[in-house]
Amino acid sequence: MPPALAPGPAIVFDRRHLLGIEGLSAAEIDGLIDLADSYVALNRQAEKKSSALRGRTIINLFFETSTRTRTSFELAGKRLGADVINMAVATSSIKKGETLIDTAMTLNAMRPDVLVVRHPESGAVSLLAQKVDCSVVNAGDGSHEHPTQALLDALTIRRRRGRLAGLVVAICGDVRHSRVARSNIHLLTTMGAHVRVIAPPTLLPAAIERMGVEAFTDMRRGLEACDVVMMLRLQVERMQGNFVPSTREYFRFWGLDYDKLAAARPDAIIMHPGPMNRGVEIDSEVADDIDRSVIREQVEMGVAVRMACLDALTRAARANRPADKGR
Ligand code: CP
Repeated sequence: MPPALAPGPAIVFDRRHLLGIEGLSAAEIDGLIDLADSYVALNRQAEKKSSALRGRTIINLFFETSTRTRTSFELAGKRLGADVINMAVATSSIKKGETLIDTAMTLNAMRPDVLVVRHPESGAVSLLAQKVDCSVVNAGDGSHEHPTQALLDALTIRRRRGRLAGLVVAICGDVRHSRVARSNIHLLTTMGAHVRVIAPPTLLPAAIERMGVEAFTDMRRGLEACDVVMMLRLQVERMQGNFVPSTREYFRFWGLDYDKLAAARPDAIIMHPGPMNRGVEIDSEVADDIDRSVIREQVEMGVAVRMACLDALTRAARANRPADKGR
């Protein structure tokens, strides 16, 4: 049997669900990042299994496509010894007209411990969480939140820079449609970073400054002396109408190339949540620059962060829900 892990850092996270970063305290965010950091070493050794979640069941329910998030939740659950089921939405009864809520309640009746849900509608995952008695993790809902992406971004930055507080982070591109931007803004401002958003006027949400960020429409001005450059994909699947004249023109003004990057600090790191569209929001050479780009490291940190979230939620459930004790 795989060994249980030596106890990691105590977790300051006592919630049933992880539905967003908004509303989490700095201590809760730190607690999850610290726990994730403790899982990085396990993921780098030959024997990657622990038995921390042995006997637990996790169901991945993705109503939108995913490479990184779905795979890393599956790996995270398996590395912790849980049983992980990937629901194939395309071949499920959703295709016969079953509603999201009925699907969730059906899965809930099978007594999973965690449902990991991605849905194209903002708010759908929170609604679903009200109907089930297991833990729910938001793996991305519309343009609302993608909390585990923000946590893995924060872990990546903290490992590279040693801190989050005081750093200048520029989030660039399609901020308007981006759940990654929203979760990162909540997390980074809570942790004391200075956040700038840079986008064409059509892709900046109205009154974005109310989220505690500075808004720019000029890349070079926005990137000036920043420590972290976080690029975003054009979320065409969420666009109704034309928001940019052409991808060629978009790249010319808002795509990250070495010329625009020169405005940032010489040691600024380059991030992208993926999937990337090379030549649209980021130059291919910049994306692959081994001295500056941490894009692959973000993917690696994704597994550790999802292990931490699954671990923390199931620990909180064990401690707080008397009904669980007999399960
Ligand atoms: N960053 C992210 O959510 O990627 P996937 O869509 O591949 O999961």
